[in-house]
Amino acid sequence: MPGYAVIGGQWGDEGKGKIVDFLSQDTQYVVRYSGGNNAGHTVINKLGQFALHLVPAGIFWPKVTCVIGNGVVVDPGVLLEEIATLEKAGVNTSRLLISDRAHLIMPYHVALDQLEERAKGSQAIGTTGKGVGPAYMDKVGRVGIRVGELLDVDNEEVFLPHLDHVLKQKNAIITKVYGGEPFSLAEIYQKCLEWGDLLRPYIQPTEMVLQEAIASGDNVLIEGAQGAMLDIDHGTYPYVTSSSPSIGGAYTGLGIPPQSIAGSLGVFKAYTTRVGGGPLVTELNDATGDKIRELAWEYGATTGRPRRVGWFDGVAARYSANLNGFTSIVLTRLDVLDGFPSVKVCVGYQLDGKVVDRIPSNVAILARCQPVYEEFEGWDQPTASATEMEKLPPNALKYVHRLEELIGVPIDLISTGPRREETIVNRPFIKR
Ligand code: GDP
Ligand code: IMO
Ligand code: MG
Repeated sequence: MPGYAVIGGQWGDEGKGKIVDFLSQDTQYVVRYSGGNNAGHTVINKLGQFALHLVPAGIFWPKVTCVIGNGVVVDPGVLLEEIATLEKAGVNTSRLLISDRAHLIMPYHVALDQLEERAKGSQAIGTTGKGVGPAYMDKVGRVGIRVGELLDVDNEEVFLPHLDHVLKQKNAIITKVYGGEPFSLAEIYQKCLEWGDLLRPYIQPTEMVLQEAIASGDNVLIEGAQGAMLDIDHGTYPYVTSSSPSIGGAYTGLGIPPQSIAGSLGVFKAYTTRVGGGPLVTELNDATGDKIRELAWEYGATTGRPRRVGWFDGVAARYSANLNGFTSIVLTRLDVLDGFPSVKVCVGYQLDGKVVDRIPSNVAILARCQPVYEEFEGWDQPTASATEMEKLPPNALKYVHRLEELIGVPIDLISTGPRREETIVNRPFIKR
């Protein structure tokens, strides 16, 4: 059972990119299964700082094969740009594979995402505007265009009628519902021809590649995007993304059976952030929130938007751990809390005069919840860059242990800085 998943436990941006890069040294495959270029996974190494949107974060390790699985939605223009940036920095991207079953994000998806958001006004979700939601809508609506179709793009009798049919529908919505500009069939077709040419070498039936890899005993590191609280089913609907970032999505998004995943590592920040709309029970709309945002530079790796900041939410964390069956927790950005006089953790929600320890499914009810906090004394000594548990100040340790208790799963890895080496291996995590 050589598959291990790294999954965001909160609302995304937990530091999955750094952790996947750190763990990639012991693996043969690193694979993405959901989302698209709404993701921004930061990896910092000697070649520079990278915000990866589609290419898996294992790409910096020369022996790792990186796979964009069938559950991902791919904007070919963005992917080609990312490949070019990596190559320019000296990274060999010839070990990248893209599933022929992955769906394409087309220019009309990007336009529709932005037009729909604008039309929603105060009801807007705060999407990344990358066309992810509309592309998944077409997939489920069975009119999506898949990466594999690019292999046959110059067969005008097959590809063009499909594109023509979809584009007529989209242009009707764009012009009649939103008053936008229609797209030209000839221009989009030309783009598809170019994409087909450039992406052909990468396109493969990746589920078979992965099934064979697993059967032969190779290690497969599964890289989640977004976070469990943004899951289309289990997140704070409708303020969610349009895919399944939690563990369930990994099986369908890669085409591998359940027994092939031996463990799942839940990545949690030592506090909480969220980008876009939707309730955030522990949100800090005050000087402390601003201080964390500026200290930690909590601005989106994809859109540059300021991230909303709050204390750690133990109620949401336990929900997320139960949903994903995390076997280990990875705690990131502990160093950001260095020097705070005190830190708080939410241990329950106050709702209509009662304390509850479950997250309500209805966002209107969730929005009424008030945090019940436990307060911890802060620590003066830095945790930043620590690589051993023994180097953590006692108050930081107390904080870590309380989080562990609240989540209900051991914290096996602690990240104390954005670089690969700024990591504490607390326990041998992977073979639990
Ligand atoms: P992802 O989407 O989960 O991969 O996370 P992002 O890359 O969007 O955001 C995480 C941010 O935290 C990035 O700027 C990382 O460089 C940074 N980061 C990751 N781990 C740590 C850590 O332990 N300490 C600090 N200070 N920064 C970290
Ligand atoms: P990574 O992988 C944080 C959020 C958006 C918005 C909602 C829906 O870097 O952790 P979408 O464009 O997906 O339709 O937007 O989901 N969102 C993310 N927030 N990190 C991400 O990815 C996100 N991907 C989507 O901000 O609230
Ligand atoms: Mg991110």
